[in-house]
Amino acid sequence: MPDLLIRGLAQLATPGAGVLPLRGRALADVDVVEDAYLLCRAGRIDSVGRMRDLPVLPDEVEELDGSGLCALPGLVDCHTHPAFGGDRVEEFSLRAAGATYEELHAAGGGILSTVAATRALDEDALLDRVRRHARRMLAHGTTTWEGKSGYGLDRDTELASLRAIRRSGGSSTWLGAHAVPPEHPDADAYLDFALAEVLPVASQLADAADVFLERGAFDAVQARRYLDACRAAGLALRLHGDQFTESGAVPLAIELGARSVDHLEATGPAGVTALAGSDVTAVLLPASALFLDRPMPPARALVDAGAAIALGTDFNPGSSFTTSLPLVCSLASMQLHLSPAEALGAVTANAAHVLGQGSRTGRLAPGLAADILLVAAPDWRYLAYDLDGDVVSTVIKGGTVAHRR
Ligand code: NIG
Ligand code: FE
Repeated sequence: MPDLLIRGLAQLATPGAGVLPLRGRALADVDVVEDAYLLCRAGRIDSVGRMRDLPVLPDEVEELDGSGLCALPGLVDCHTHPAFGGDRVEEFSLRAAGATYEELHAAGGGILSTVAATRALDEDALLDRVRRHARRMLAHGTTTWEGKSGYGLDRDTELASLRAIRRSGGSSTWLGAHAVPPEHPDADAYLDFALAEVLPVASQLADAADVFLERGAFDAVQARRYLDACRAAGLALRLHGDQFTESGAVPLAIELGARSVDHLEATGPAGVTALAGSDVTAVLLPASALFLDRPMPPARALVDAGAAIALGTDFNPGSSFTTSLPLVCSLASMQLHLSPAEALGAVTANAAHVLGQGSRTGRLAPGLAADILLVAAPDWRYLAYDLDGDVVSTVIKGGTVAHRR
């Protein structure tokens, strides 16, 4: 792989070198270099700096003209559900006419309708879908992503989902406790099956486990049972919690040492305080709150209290049909009242931390992966400011151009 030099960048912007996860003032700390260069060697960042400090380089360097562009770390989507068949456009229309997400779910639609459509795909077709979704993420500047299973809920489809996510380049999470599929009488009976029949193989194919702790899905006792077993099998822990009701996800996440608790649209002051005193990262998903017309999560309170936050798309067919982290950054500034700098830290360094990859990617600094997003803008904050959604110019992964607009 030849060395790659990006020269003459309008700006280079990266979260500062604080301890991960970045919290409080450190989350807003972005280093900006004007008239910058960025040099990549062997897939990693070799050096960054002002053009006037550019070192003399050997001849075989490939050059990329950065004029009119700003360089940011490749974005990290730490929460997606890309392994699904079908769509939910019909449900979207029903919701637009007044039906609620929880009503549709309780009536056997919602997640379970996607389960049926996903089970209908063979493994190649499922892989094809996940690859297609991964290409959409890349086109929006995402160079590292996590994908969850959870639309199979039988042994073969769950395992096929995890394989498809891995083969498409994602970090895989077994969302074995997403909903109770119709062939099981109740949540406890389903967990008996999932933990005995699926976990032994899923734990070899996944990096983490996740559970939907919510009324109508799994309660705190069931979530604890599932997560305890997954942790014993070597998986890191994540939770979908406080999406509609505060049902104990935050204290459980803290007690079990989960990597994150995600959603938090219903989290109140006690949950904010508890998270601030913990090592659990709060993953906020404003595109999902927007898509479902739900209250936004208490992002400002979390950051001000000292909690660690990350942002993700929650890409899925039912509650957040977007792969765009630039859109999420816009929503973060407009609806969560986070500065563009805080949003940047939350979709790069802190999101990488949630995936256990904070020492590999998420900042533009020597030694880290050459995962770079070039935005066509005079100022890096266009990442959040430009609502057209087409700021992405070029995406570089491991030192190689992976997408060009
Ligand atoms: O994160 N809330 C649970 N799971 C997904 C949505 C799944 C779906 O509606 O298909 C979420 O929002
Ligand atoms: Fe989700």
